[in-house]
Amino acid sequence: MTKRIDLHSEQDTIDLAHYIAPLLGPGSVITLYGDLGSGKTFFVKALGAFLGIGEEIDSPSFVIFKEYHCGRFPLYHLDLYRLKDEGELLDMGLFDMLESGITVIEWPELAENILPYQTIQLRFAFDSEKRFVDVIPEAALEESFQ
Ligand SMILES: Nc1ncnc2c1ncn2[C@@H]1O[C@H](COP(=O)(O)OP(=O)(O)OP(=O)(O)O)[C@@H](O)[C@H]1O
Ligand SMILES: [Mg+2]
Repeated sequence: MTKRIDLHSEQDTIDLAHYIAPLLGPGSVITLYGDLGSGKTFFVKALGAFLGIGEEIDSPSFVIFKEYHCGRFPLYHLDLYRLKDEGELLDMGLFDMLESGITVIEWPELAENILPYQTIQLRFAFDSEKRFVDVIPEAALEESFQ
């Protein structure tokens, strides 16, 4: 089941991050889909703040991944837009990340086959009129989901 949430303003995206952050822990994986500028990195910035990361989170699209160890749990922020093959992900230590922290992945298509079954998908979309996000599965918004 999918839950669609309208994001009328940046504050709505911040509120979503605020809602989800306490439901996450080591082993949680979130994949972020959506076109350029749809709000994926914006969401991760907000999520990081609610996880107690004081550092500024910026887009990892040039370096593929960034890690933050100053919050409640390690946060691994990946952007696979420029990645060519799955093997590079394994060389990067993806499985260690998945196990030890919260892993959030922009442009995750390349990794889909190696991510855990309980990965939470956030699919952002926007046009000139509105923004929304589909949360899949809907149960990811419940405390019992882990
Ligand atoms: N409701 C909203 N939620 C998130 N971002 C919004 C919203 N309204 C406006 N924005 C703006 O849209 C932009 C989204 O940019 P962001 O870098 O998060 O996109 P992205 O999906 O990560 O793109 P890319 O694929 O290039 O990494 C930000 O500049 C943000 O301020
Ligand atoms: Mg981004």
